Amino acid sequence: MGLINRLNYFYINFKGFIGTNFILDWLTQSDEEIINLDNLTYAGSLENLASLKDDKQHVFIKGDICDSTLIISLLTKYKPRAIINFAAESHVDRSIASPEEFVVTNVTGTWALLDAARENNVKHFHHVSTDEVFGSLDLNTSKKFHEGTLYEPKSPYSASKAGSDHLVRAYHETYGLPITITNSSNNYGPYQDAEKFIPRVITNLIEGKKIPIYGDGKYVRDWIHVEDHCRAIDLVLHKGKIGETYLVGGQVKNTNNLELVKKILKIMGKDENEIEFITDRPGHDRKYAVDWRKINKELGWEPLHDLDTWLTKTVDWYMSNDWWWKPLKKEAEGFYEEQRDIKSADKFKEFVKETSIPGLLLIEMPTYKDARGFFREVTRMNVLEKIIGDKFKIKQWNHAKSKPKVVRGLHAESHNKLIYPVSGKMFAAIADLRADSPTFGKVETFNFSEGNPRALYIPKGLGNSVCALGTKNVNYLYLIDKYYDGSDTKAVAWDDQDLNIKWPIKKPILSQRDKENPTLRKLFPERFVGK
Ligand code: DAU
Repeated sequence: MGLINRLNYFYINFKGFIGTNFILDWLTQSDEEIINLDNLTYAGSLENLASLKDDKQHVFIKGDICDSTLIISLLTKYKPRAIINFAAESHVDRSIASPEEFVVTNVTGTWALLDAARENNVKHFHHVSTDEVFGSLDLNTSKKFHEGTLYEPKSPYSASKAGSDHLVRAYHETYGLPITITNSSNNYGPYQDAEKFIPRVITNLIEGKKIPIYGDGKYVRDWIHVEDHCRAIDLVLHKGKIGETYLVGGQVKNTNNLELVKKILKIMGKDENEIEFITDRPGHDRKYAVDWRKINKELGWEPLHDLDTWLTKTVDWYMSNDWWWKPLKKEAEGFYEEQRDIKSADKFKEFVKETSIPGLLLIEMPTYKDARGFFREVTRMNVLEKIIGDKFKIKQWNHAKSKPKVVRGLHAESHNKLIYPVSGKMFAAIADLRADSPTFGKVETFNFSEGNPRALYIPKGLGNSVCALGTKNVNYLYLIDKYYDGSDTKAVAWDDQDLNIKWPIKKPILSQRDKENPTLRKLFPERFVGK
């Protein structure tokens, strides 16, 4: 079969799962050439088709569906008889975290393909879509989604897929583009990314991790094995009526996530202690159920894979193919961890307060009393970093003791620091010594004690000075993000007239170097011109 073949198919594959299974099935049954366009944004996408590396029937092109010029040049070159659009950003949780990519790929990308198909008189455009466009069913209803169900998408993912479905139909109605659409329920099977539920459960168990179940776990999905879905697409491609939509669903109804997990636990010889209920997904759709009578009646399709047998085969596949899922798993769990961090950062943000000096933060975390005394988190780096918008990478941990009546002079360094008294009472004065700061010369003072626990995040360039309050020593920790080098320290006289700090001590003991600190005016003459 030649490279340019009028009978070839043009597959738009993306992140691989359903498209990969379709291509692998197809090539075992047909000798038609296929052109596979994939932008390989995910690690592992190319590995899906590793077995086809030397297969002349499979022409692989790396590219983006939004790249109209590329699509048009490919259509001109290969003149395919059909386009199958598998391309989609498809993970609901990711769509909640960053919707933009979903709109770009799923809506703009589909539009770019449709437009190129129209210009090149493509004879069949098949669009692979989802049952999520219909929204959610009540848990106790016997209703199912069907071809006439109104669209009511709830997540950015399903809304973007709904948008793409509407565009596909609009291109048929407006320009007469020959289209078909399939809307399928939740797929499972080989080559599914470990970010999706079933592979996540299996791979977590293989790696000895807990199974995270969102909310109460009583969410129902209409699970279909990917081979059943691919067979439905194949039938629609060959026998489907142009302009029509077909819904595709599985064999088992009303299996909720918890029941599904119990099946997997049984297959893998584990018990329910592996289950962990976690915070629910926002806007989580309760139930999907698909009425597939239309495709059954018109094209003779039905799902042939029963859940119990094929779940076992899916578990076997993941057990034998960790070379494939391990790199993806790392990426997927990285994503989930990031989401957990973002949620926890939001929860603790209220404990970090801005002050009148930009960048200077007061951290007042709650104290939990217990049998030994109390427990307190000093800070959470993700919360701090969310507020400072930068990484605060601690390089050095320091501990200082300050005796009563001694004042450590007002000094500014080139590192950021977090300061936290652990015993005794302390007074701290912070002055803005950043020559270009709009609050240059501004002072904030703070009292610290066991009953008034707080930490300060002091960005570089702010002058800071502390002394013990009362008659006892104060011990404090300070964590800095550079190895200490005193040579770049700037210091100002503790009793500078312009700063006018209200010290709790009238005649402090100063070290020799702190006795010699210059005034603010002397150190920053440019800030006092004409004053
Ligand atoms: O209905 C078809 C759609 O099904 C496809 O179009 C989507 O591409 C696909 O992602 C899927 O959407 P879901 O949100 O239903 O799939 P997911 O695998 O993310 O989650 C399945 C169920 O499991 C859902 O109720 C959320 C729950 N879940 C999921 C994960 C990842 C958990 O309880 N814990 C988890 O860790």
